[in-house]
Amino acid sequence: MNRALEKREIPRMGGSVTFLGFGALEIGRDWGLGSGKDRERPDEREANRVLNAVLDRGINLIDTASAYHRSEERIGKAVSHRRGEYVLATKCGEHSREPDTFYDFSYRAVKESIDRSLRRLRTEVIDLVQIHFGPDPEKVIEEGKTLEAMKEARKEGKVRFLGASIDGELAKQCILSGDFDVMQMEYNLLNRQNEENIRLCREKGIGVLIRSGLAMGKLTPRILPYMEEDFPEKGRIRRLLELTEGDGEALTALALRFLHENKGISSVLVGTKKPGRIDRNIALLNREIDGELLTRAAAIGAGD
Ligand SMILES: NC(=O)c1ccc[n+]([C@@H]2O[C@H](COP(=O)([O-])OP(=O)(O)OC[C@H]3O[C@@H](n4cnc5c(N)ncnc54)[C@H](OP(=O)(O)O)[C@@H]3O)[C@@H](O)[C@H]2O)c1
Repeated sequence: MNRALEKREIPRMGGSVTFLGFGALEIGRDWGLGSGKDRERPDEREANRVLNAVLDRGINLIDTASAYHRSEERIGKAVSHRRGEYVLATKCGEHSREPDTFYDFSYRAVKESIDRSLRRLRTEVIDLVQIHFGPDPEKVIEEGKTLEAMKEARKEGKVRFLGASIDGELAKQCILSGDFDVMQMEYNLLNRQNEENIRLCREKGIGVLIRSGLAMGKLTPRILPYMEEDFPEKGRIRRLLELTEGDGEALTALALRFLHENKGISSVLVGTKKPGRIDRNIALLNREIDGELLTRAAAIGAGD
């Protein structure tokens, strides 16, 4: 079995997604660890290579957002002719105004944003549109205008399913509301706050997409040059690296496998601007890992 390409069913969507999904933030906007070139988005040609590598390898889920600057447009240009090969997820509520983004969760802004996403993505229909929560999420939920606009777009046949990208107590509130088919939440070896939410989604047939499954690169070899600096998770990452004898890729393999063990997770949206990482991450997910090592890594990640 290829763990990366294992299809996981999302009952509320009546379909399935590959366990390894693709996060398209990194191909549209500067992002991630470090500074300068390390964070810079790729040029258009390289972004095109990443996106086609994703589909060539059989990954069937692409997650983007209207706020990821060039991401939607690049997906539209590079792979819209292969539209049948991927489940397409985008977001609304946070908007791009390069080099910044801004929030507008009003009915009108959200309707316009969905129409703009359809044009940029060069598609007739978006499979999943998610609320891209920012500051003051309580207000967005309470006013309900964003959800109203998303439901209207669904009625018009522009989107098929609705989701929310949010964590913790408010995620739980969204899950229990019954309005959402999919939840996008942060979860990784170092951050377990959504564990109970993941369980609840599984019980309700709601899909779970994981963002920052590699802790934005901290659970990859990219952390190695920063291990002399101070940052909150440093102690736990050092102990994890002791387990892997300093091997950064082995750390990534542990982080991915930890997620794979959780059957409530539909897909982990690993982001990258580098085409070669797609093959690497597939290979790392398929590495044999000693069960005891994984148990120890999980305990260290949880702070035990
Ligand atoms: N609010 C939201 O809804 C929200 C927020 C954040 C993210 N997201 C979604 O989640 C996706 C992923 O989240 P994320 O970017 O925060 O974190 P992530 O997937 O945990 O980490 C991505 C980082 O890991 C690096 N990486 C990936 N595979 C690697 C490997 N094999 N070796 C070395 N480095 C590797 C990438 O660097 P390179 O580019 O150098 O490969 C990238 O900077 C995003 O693309 C986006 O779709 C959503």
